[in-house]
Amino acid sequence: MMKINGHMLLLLLFLVPLLAGLILYFSPGIAESAMKTEGESPKKAILLVAFGTSVPEAATAFDEIEKRVREKYKDTEIRWALTSKIIRSKPSAQGKNLDSPEIALSRLMGEGYKEVAVLSLHVVPGQEFEELERNALQFAGMSGGFEKVVVARPLLGNYDDMTRVAGILSRRFTPEGESEGVVFIGHGNGRHPSDAIYGAMNSYMTDLDKRFFVGTVEGHPTPDQIVPKLRAAQIRKVRLVPLMTIAGDHVRKDIAGDDPGSWKSILAKNGIEGEALFSGLAQNPDIVSVWLDHLEDAISKLSSK
Ligand code: CO
Repeated sequence: MMKINGHMLLLLLFLVPLLAGLILYFSPGIAESAMKTEGESPKKAILLVAFGTSVPEAATAFDEIEKRVREKYKDTEIRWALTSKIIRSKPSAQGKNLDSPEIALSRLMGEGYKEVAVLSLHVVPGQEFEELERNALQFAGMSGGFEKVVVARPLLGNYDDMTRVAGILSRRFTPEGESEGVVFIGHGNGRHPSDAIYGAMNSYMTDLDKRFFVGTVEGHPTPDQIVPKLRAAQIRKVRLVPLMTIAGDHVRKDIAGDDPGSWKSILAKNGIEGEALFSGLAQNPDIVSVWLDHLEDAISKLSSK
């Protein structure tokens, strides 16, 4: 055993703090993380993601969603990101905080956040959602970066979500007469497996009430697939309700537009009067609750500290 004599003690007294100081000086990362692990919980953030919109009512709906998230998660940092390049580059967007999800995540990472829950206001786990999820999860593997990134599932993320959303919509849009129907119209994407969700929801909603139908603007069911069903049910008048986060261009053009390919025009050609609702799912507080429950599910997967 080595005995510590006076000289060695003196040496240690100088050397140890000197070395520790040098290490901390040259590696601020170590100093920072050492400070944070002392009983403190990892810095958490919520990233809300929307496609983005130039429709003012939709912007109001997003503000409302943010308010609800802030009320529920008072101590958590909350940020927005938009997936649409076009919306981000619009002159009206100047001065607003309009990062892409990737830029927003980079910023959070640079600011020392360790865990992020991402809620995107997508309806189905389609191509856009998949791309967002893939990129967001890439951020979880970087050394010195996030410890955890969880992406909440979209509105119609599983069967229970579908039945819950169908229930909310059926109570909100009960048809008035026997010859009146409702077609809920989603976006759709004929080249993506998520397109099948609309077909499943169509059959589920028709079982709830034979005057309910679900169609899409870019996938299936198409207007040509729904029109014979409307005729068979002897429906003469339908409300066209967007099954989309916001009521933007697709509602104006592909649902309510005068173009011969619009839902309204195809219905008119078949003797059915169509009346479009200019309001998206983000404007329905009960539907927003479904999204917020998915956010809560995601947050529950972060560390509980
Ligand atoms: Co589109």
